[in-house]
Amino acid sequence: MIYLDNAATSYPKPEPVYRRVDEVLRHVGGNPGRGSHRMALSAGRVIFEVRESIARLLNIKDSGRVAFTKNATESINLALKGLLKSGDHVVTTAIEHNAVVNTIKALEKKGIKATMVGMGENGTIEPKEIDDAVGKNTRLVCITHASNVLGTILPVGDVGAICHRKGVPLMVDVAQTVGAVPIDVETMNIDILAGTGHKALFGPQGTGFLYIREGIDIPPLIDGGTGEVGESMDIPERLESGTINTPGIGGLGAGVEFLMKEGVIRVREYEENLIGRIIDELNGIKSISIIGTLDASKRVSLVSFNIADRDPGEIGYILDNEFGIMTRSGLHCAPSAHRAAGTYPGGSVRVSPGYFNSVSDIEEFIGVVRKIARRV
Ligand code: ALA
Repeated sequence: MIYLDNAATSYPKPEPVYRRVDEVLRHVGGNPGRGSHRMALSAGRVIFEVRESIARLLNIKDSGRVAFTKNATESINLALKGLLKSGDHVVTTAIEHNAVVNTIKALEKKGIKATMVGMGENGTIEPKEIDDAVGKNTRLVCITHASNVLGTILPVGDVGAICHRKGVPLMVDVAQTVGAVPIDVETMNIDILAGTGHKALFGPQGTGFLYIREGIDIPPLIDGGTGEVGESMDIPERLESGTINTPGIGGLGAGVEFLMKEGVIRVREYEENLIGRIIDELNGIKSISIIGTLDASKRVSLVSFNIADRDPGEIGYILDNEFGIMTRSGLHCAPSAHRAAGTYPGGSVRVSPGYFNSVSDIEEFIGVVRKIARRV
């Protein structure tokens, strides 16, 4: 069995992640922010420490600006719905995930206007187009750091410089990049960052977070929260209504610590080598077309491809059922990106190696794809 679907969720997790989930669930036990007994306080410490780890990883000055959510989609909804009001304008891109596309579509019905900047060469976007799209009513620029279909790493730092110059906040969906490539919210001028815990941060599913720069106020998506009725709460607790996923967040913390110990750059280099091998080999097979850049150094660890006009769902099925290789096929919850890439409505097969895949996993995958490509 070879797992090559790390862009959907990383597997396996580092051992400390499994241990930490068990330990928090079994021995910490209490409910953070609810009560003052020792177990509630220990749970609060767990949450605090993970906020601090995430802040360290991303160069966030105040970990109190990191709110936990259940995934990047919730973070995106929280930020977009909280920030944008009727009459506001938002600039986004044609290669966003449904989490952004569908949230903006819902907001358009409430009087928000959106401009979608098109995809440039090799799956990137041109910062100049973002610059041109920003107008006097633009309240936000919201872009992905790397599409989960194309994989191309977008020039967020350049877009950040433009937004900073124009005084418009920049929000970045880092679901595919957080932990996979270095991110620094200060040097990249990122004002809002929506992340997930279960991909390159090695955390459990059901963990995500939202960073909001000081000075930007976002109301909660779900009302409730800790404290007495009428007591006003601050970020981050104000955005974390209801009992949060303490074991999951504890596990996420262990994932982040593991990653920082290994080093983001080292993980990145390892994955870049795997992805480079896949691109070189698949690109040499006549019937295969790869979506996005062929330069592994400009991608996160995923490659979407098609074999002639064959159904990607069927290829994924053969890979799994005949050869025990798990990939993801179809539209990847990002039909907009597939439209931009010219692969709508069929989609593609997506292979996404992770830090725990070996070179021999990749060689086996390539050998199997060769075999499948030879079949008519
Ligand atoms: N957004 C995730 C993916 O790309 C689930 O597969």
